Parts: sequence; structure tokens; C-alpha cells
Amino acid sequence: IEYYLDTADLAEIKRFSHCLPLRGITTNPSILAKEGKGLNEVLAGAAEILGPNARFHTQVVSTTVEEMVAEAKALDAMPYDVVVKVPATEVGLAAIRKMKQEGIQVLATAIYSAYQGFLAAMAGADYLAPYVNRIDGMGTDGIAIVADLQQLLDANQCQSKILAASFKNTRQVTEVMKLGIGAITVPTDVMGQMLANPAVQPAVNQFSTDWQGQFGSKLSYE
Ligand code: E4P
Repeated sequence: IEYYLDTADLAEIKRFSHCLPLRGITTNPSILAKEGKGLNEVLAGAAEILGPNARFHTQVVSTTVEEMVAEAKALDAMPYDVVVKVPATEVGLAAIRKMKQEGIQVLATAIYSAYQGFLAAMAGADYLAPYVNRIDGMGTDGIAIVADLQQLLDANQCQSKILAASFKNTRQVTEVMKLGIGAITVPTDVMGQMLANPAVQPAVNQFSTDWQGQFGSKLSYE
């Protein structure tokens, strides 16, 4: 699975880059606005941390086909491995078809149903981003929609990869990863929760206490 962080926070990217083989980061206009940094600054900083092979999924902000395609060309020309995120709307799908004619890597975003995702795959999107938590928040089942979308892709021999997005808890991440999808992007607070089970540190501390009580600071192979 390709594992991404859904953030533009360079300190958090650095923090998790030490313990995880991150494929890259995903951003959207809201994430960049929250960080208050321009795309150039974020990508340059992230590339320095993650190295030259990192992949960056970054979203267009234009609203017409022509403008989206022009924006995608500019993003594609950046000196990084950029995948252009395009909302999977009627206009977005038309833009995706043109971007694929130009050989641009595309992720279809803002996917709220399996069939919407499948249409984006037919338009040629390389990645599909269903919004698990936002779907859950609407009273529907985000995980079931990801499962349905993967089934549609498999049944119709589509090569597009699901990059599952929008998570608020570790259960959603675990359930989605059980489906064998191609990629996932996890926000940093949920990433932190995965490593913060309150039982873990006391268990580790107990090992130290027991060992030191018997052997002091000697290592076991001495
Ligand atoms: C992908 O990057 C999506 O834009 C993002 O995961 C949405 O997440 P949210 O629902 O937490 O805003």
C-alpha cells in the first residue's frame, strides 16, 4: 500500500518520516489555507524531508475545464512527482480526460459514492479518493462505499488505485486497509492515535523495571 500523510505541516511530516516509509503527502486547498503556506514552500520543505522520490497529491482550485487543465500543466511542470487532484464533478471528469491526453498524473477527489468513483476511473483518473469520514458523517457507510468501489474496479479490470481519504479515527483506517486498497492518506492526529494506545508504554516500562530489578543496567547478551 502507498502510505501518505494528509497534511502540509512540515514538522509533522518530519516527525512521522522517521518511523514510517511515507510515499508522500496529500494536500487540498483547506489544508494549505490552514497552514498559511504557499504550495512551493510546502513542497520544497516536504521534498527535503522525504527525498526526491516522494509523491505529492495537490489540488486544482480552478472551476472550468480550460483553467483546470492549465493549472494541471503548471503543477505537472513543478520539479517534483506531482499528482494533480481534481474534484470528480461533471466539469472535473471532463478536465481529467483532457489531462490524461497530456500524460498528467491525476487523482479524482471528493468521491462520495462508489459509482462516482467508477466514473472517474473511466475518465482515466490514476487515483480515486473516497472521503470515508465525510460519508460516515452523512449517515452512510464510508467503508462499505470503498469496498463497493474496489469491487467495481476489480470486476471491470480498471487499473485506477483507490487512495482512501478523510479519516477521523483509527477504526476507519483499519477497516479500509483490510480491503486491500492501493493507497491511503491519514491525517497526523489519527496517525498519532495509532501509536498512542495507553497500555503500550506501561508495558514497556514494566519490562525495564523487571529487568533492572534483577540485572541492573547489564545487557542480556553480556
Ligand atoms: C484528501 O486529501 C482529502 O481532501 C482529505 O482527506 C479530506 O479530509 P477531511 O474530510 O478530514 O477534510
